[in-house]
Amino acid sequence: MSTLSPTRRVYIETYGCQMNVADSEVVGGILSTHGYALTGDIADADIVLVNTCAIRENAEQRIYGRLGLFSTYKRRNPGMLVGVLGCMAERLRSNLLEDELVDLVVGPDEYRKLPDLVERAFAGERGVAVRLSRVENYDDLTPLRTDGVCAWVSVMRGCDKFCSFCVVPFTRGRERSRSLESIVGEVRDLAVKGFREITLLGQNVNSFRDGSHDFAELMRKVASVDRSMRIRFTTSHPQDMSQRLIEAIAEEVNICKYVHLPVQSGSDRILGLMNRTYTVDHYRRLLHRIRKAIPGVALSTDVISGFPSESGADHRMTVDLIRELRFDFAYTFKYSPREGTKAWEMEDSVPEEEKGRRVWEITELQHAIALEQNRELIGTTVRVLVEGPSRKSPHEYTGRSDTNKTVVFPHTDEQPGELADVRIDRANSATLFGVRAGDAIGAASQSLRETAA
Ligand code: SAH
Ligand code: SF4
Ligand code: F3S
Repeated sequence: MSTLSPTRRVYIETYGCQMNVADSEVVGGILSTHGYALTGDIADADIVLVNTCAIRENAEQRIYGRLGLFSTYKRRNPGMLVGVLGCMAERLRSNLLEDELVDLVVGPDEYRKLPDLVERAFAGERGVAVRLSRVENYDDLTPLRTDGVCAWVSVMRGCDKFCSFCVVPFTRGRERSRSLESIVGEVRDLAVKGFREITLLGQNVNSFRDGSHDFAELMRKVASVDRSMRIRFTTSHPQDMSQRLIEAIAEEVNICKYVHLPVQSGSDRILGLMNRTYTVDHYRRLLHRIRKAIPGVALSTDVISGFPSESGADHRMTVDLIRELRFDFAYTFKYSPREGTKAWEMEDSVPEEEKGRRVWEITELQHAIALEQNRELIGTTVRVLVEGPSRKSPHEYTGRSDTNKTVVFPHTDEQPGELADVRIDRANSATLFGVRAGDAIGAASQSLRETAA
């Protein structure tokens, strides 16, 4: 199809959530089938693509910083193309062309047009493609993945929830799901290629529905492809966390016992203004049901501090809820007004400094809770999927437990992709440290894996 030289090299940089990571692999797949080669070296690239996030103002500021850097490369290599993809492309559209550096602006549903747009841009025609689609799910395309241990599989796109603070329904458009058959086919292929962990992705993954199957059925089917492969999913909205899904997580041995369930606030008044469609009590009961059905389950959440009109009393309700529910992780964000959302019309009443103070208070509390939770694991043995050398030392390996805790242990003879049983002897709020448990346990895990396979 392409008349371009096959030696043109593309460098892709990815920001934002895992959906963007998965999308960049789709983009890599599209461009490589059109004769482009991927490069990890920006200085070597003919095309630089940045896949962007628009969730908060600071995410966008970071991208502007990167564009500044790209301009220094472009000065050295004036023929180089720069393209902005993803959510910021969708939000800002042709406004991004005001920067002379930018040659292409392509939204999340228009990636099939990239080869054509790139070709035109090389001929001097700058391009914008930002139409959102009700059907595009890239179901038939094979993402270009580097071989590894963990793979991301996007199963649905878009979001219909319209939380009042959130830009995602505007940058990603309406909800649409792939078919169960094609997802299961892709997972089968990944198992053959040696991937050991699959994370099913969607902005609202548990509202997956392909006409005949719901998300609980999809999870069970994916889990049955290869019992030695771990299955995860992210992110869920509390409203769609069905009993059927909870049962699937509890019953299927290789579905990881970890649920990320954003609560956002501990105040019913704020939850109402956020359009979250649940109350604190509904959320609390849901968490109890999950904990009862799935012993040892790890739970994490997202919180926004400083939403319009959030008072000191509202904030204290959130702090109290975090203290009560004892999550394993919590990500706390300062509220950032996004143009076009419902909350944009509300007064951004909490001063930046106060937002920062509230975030700090919740983060400190959560650190203390996570430290306590992690210390309780000292002396126990945790099964870890080995991902590779740890960042701090080549003599250590890092991996994650079933419950998504990072575990670091001395490098012995295992390879990335293997399971290791690690006896925990030390913990901080973010990481567990230990040594490989005795050979007897190692052998048992080996035979267990063989039976499972
Ligand atoms: N679909 C996911 C969330 C994706 S965005 C879900 O509903 O769970 C990830 C997190 O970013 C959200 O959970 C929220 O806590 C935060 N977030 C989204 N919009 C934000 C904004 N305008 N300001 C601050 N944080 C925001
Ligand atoms: Fe945004 Fe809400 Fe949709 Fe999550 S569920 S992506 S927070 S609108
Ligand atoms: Fe960001 Fe878009 Fe994901 S706004 S969080 S990259 S869906």
